Amino acid sequence: MPLPAFLTQRHGELHVEDVSLDALARAHGTPLFVYSKAAMLQALGAYQRGLAGRAHLICYAMKANSSLAILQTLVRAGCGLDIVSGGELERALAAGCAPERIIFSGVGKTRAEMRRALAVGIGCFNVESRAELAVLDEVARAAGRRARVSIRVNPDVDARTHPYISTGLKDNKFGIAHDEVIDTYRQAAACESLDVVGIDCHIGSQITQAGPYLDALERVLDLVEAIELTGTRLHHIDFGGGLGIDYHGDTPPAADELWAKLLQRLDVRGFGDRQIMIEPGRSIVGNAGVCLTEVLYQKPGEHKNFLIVDAAMNDLPRPAMYQAYHRIEPVRSRTDTTALTWDVVGPVCESGDWLGRDRELAVQPGDVLAVLSAGAYCMSMASNYNTRGRAAEVLVDGAQATVIRQRETAADQMRLETPLP
Ligand code: LLP
Repeated sequence: MPLPAFLTQRHGELHVEDVSLDALARAHGTPLFVYSKAAMLQALGAYQRGLAGRAHLICYAMKANSSLAILQTLVRAGCGLDIVSGGELERALAAGCAPERIIFSGVGKTRAEMRRALAVGIGCFNVESRAELAVLDEVARAAGRRARVSIRVNPDVDARTHPYISTGLKDNKFGIAHDEVIDTYRQAAACESLDVVGIDCHIGSQITQAGPYLDALERVLDLVEAIELTGTRLHHIDFGGGLGIDYHGDTPPAADELWAKLLQRLDVRGFGDRQIMIEPGRSIVGNAGVCLTEVLYQKPGEHKNFLIVDAAMNDLPRPAMYQAYHRIEPVRSRTDTTALTWDVVGPVCESGDWLGRDRELAVQPGDVLAVLSAGAYCMSMASNYNTRGRAAEVLVDGAQATVIRQRETAADQMRLETPLP
């Protein structure tokens, strides 16, 4: 199976760009996340090509990976940012993102988060309920500011992905139901401190077909027509994120090809002049990262062979949460060991703490494994469960490797606690 871009085998050793992963693991310890700058920029480039010549703003969904150096890399390459919390807002600003290129998504924005976002002057609030609309209007009025809003609509299409990451169906908590959209826009237009500027949708994540996007587009454009008949003109249309990546033989459409199809439909429907916004996360960083982990012990058994490694569900939560598949490859191939079938598991005290099941691997204790496709929703979802410090991170650019986050210590973890006297 082909490796992700910028991950290559050289003389039996895995490299990210021009840097050996074995060398990085020896130098910085494990678990260690390693990212390729070129892979991120290449993934972003496909969107930029697809949208070239159109008024557009690519707002990287920073929940996928919010490490500052990653954000800086993408912001410097032209991205705005899609945020979902006050914490993400502070990170976005710290990474140097211009406030007007920040959009704020999410169903549960607090008043304090709204106030701060208004004070710094973010580009747009993606509003998800009528109650939120009313609160945002009130907060903006009290602050003497105007809030630009877009309303997230629920197009009721099946993204054909894992139920936990499908968001565009009627029964999901996200967006405004199709039937209520017009009334909600009327409510928004009547709010004294809101400027209605757009419409948005996001139908799910790890979408591997163009079909759900094309279906959602037609439904959203039907809504745009109906909304504009009420006298509100929509300046931008935001299609969210969701494009999948190849974890294990998945074949999502390329971003530029998908956008060629979507733009053609936009033109046919007469909306080719609107600014296009998108919120891609996983498809920008997912395949740009790996997580290195050392084999601690072999534990062969009657029914299962367990390979115990030093990364766990706190570092890589996706298998435990979504039964997700991540490829696992040794960073150095061995010829002196026969391959066995292993369940690769972490040290955490839970049976759900597995990284891969039934994997053919020729390995010995002390070897380093690379868990692939670990750039998105791994470090950003990492926890301290079992008082395990979060991993260190390295960004590779050509032959240069930069530590962008130090390994978290036990002292770091206890810093905010107050022991009893
Ligand atoms: N915009 C909104 C409003 C979202 O909710 C999301 C993701 C995105 C954009 C970015 O979607 P992406 O392009 O990354 O698919 N933790 C899960 C994924 C959760 C996605 C949540 N929303 C996982 O590891 O698969």
